[in-house]
Amino acid sequence: MKNISIAIDGPAAAGKSTIAKRVAAILGFVYIDTGAMYRAFTWAVMQAGLNPEDEAASCTLIGKLKIDLLENGTVLCNGTDVTRAIREPAVSSNVSYIASYKNIRLELVEMQRALAESKSVVMDGRDIGTYVLPNAEVKIYQIASVECRAKRRYKENQEKGIPTTMEEVIADVKKRDYIDSHRDFAPLRQAEDAIPLDTSEMDIDEVVDAVLKIVKEKTGVEGCR
Ligand code: DC
Repeated sequence: MKNISIAIDGPAAAGKSTIAKRVAAILGFVYIDTGAMYRAFTWAVMQAGLNPEDEAASCTLIGKLKIDLLENGTVLCNGTDVTRAIREPAVSSNVSYIASYKNIRLELVEMQRALAESKSVVMDGRDIGTYVLPNAEVKIYQIASVECRAKRRYKENQEKGIPTTMEEVIADVKKRDYIDSHRDFAPLRQAEDAIPLDTSEMDIDEVVDAVLKIVKEKTGVEGCR
């Protein structure tokens, strides 16, 4: 069977990774969390004592980081397990700066394309349908209201024991939406051929079903729940 790529893009905390992970498991595809790669880069910049708002300083790490996404969800940066650290508020509030630097994006996009080359994948991010995998068989643009996204992210943080207030989460989501959609290179936007999916009023199973239906229509591939 030919490899199939499913691109799921959308703003911060829209639930893309939850959906992408489940859809990948159902279809037997590999899930690739590109946001985790930008987060790992940001973590490494901060760990090195560099300022993520300083593009030249941040770019000195290009070519020096080996970022691995393991099948069990573990994220490694030069062999260190950063799975939890990359979800901390300090990384979340700086990652959009790192993601706006063209040369860092070019390096991570190359890794992402290589990962999608030999396997069927579900890849989530901001620019997958528009830039990373423009020929993806299925493109979904997953959105939800700011309030709804902030509520979901707040609950997720609580479950993971990450201390944040609702106000901080709302401010972070709005700030990242702004920076991600206003950067010059590969900004967040809906690809012309992407199917929009507003999940504000949907639960996880409903969103998964909607995505599977689109995948079946576009590719004929069916998963069994
Ligand atoms: O999906 P996430 O919240 O983990 O993503 C973290 C940041 O990385 C997000 O603010 C924007 C950036 N990002 C990006 O610019 N392009 C991607 N393909 C994925 C994430």
